[in-house]
Amino acid sequence: MKLLVLNGPNLNMLGIREPEIYGNKTYQDLEEYIFEYCKKKDIDVDIKQTNDESLYISLIHRANGIYDACLLNPAAWSHYSYAVRDAISSINVPCYEVHLSNIEKREDFRKLSVVKDVCVKTVMGLGFDSYIETIKLVERGI
Ligand code: DQA
Repeated sequence: MKLLVLNGPNLNMLGIREPEIYGNKTYQDLEEYIFEYCKKKDIDVDIKQTNDESLYISLIHRANGIYDACLLNPAAWSHYSYAVRDAISSINVPCYEVHLSNIEKREDFRKLSVVKDVCVKTVMGLGFDSYIETIKLVERGI
């Protein structure tokens, strides 16, 4: 199984950014956590982060025909980017929406996800484990 994890803006600031919401662990810790799980399960995973929406869209396009599934944490773009939504709709790879925090229990503007209904599932509110639980769904074919 080949997976792509694509993290959006400001996630590189984990560990510094709003620790009361996102915790004290760094972005590198997040990548290592995902790699460790995937290594145990013999899953081939690529993990990328960008603050550039145009690059994020291109990376989604390039996933087509290469990956079995994409885990997307589009961060703030989740709430307003129809361009990211359309990129997800453009490819034939199943995409899963992932959030560290529970966006339904935060500010009103975060309650709307414009990517939700073009993704297979949304997993949120479990911190780093949101990614692991999503990979488990992919493994189980859900
Ligand atoms: C986030 C939630 C978004 O609302 C926020 O803009 C982020 C991170 C999360 O993983 O909890 O940057 O996607």
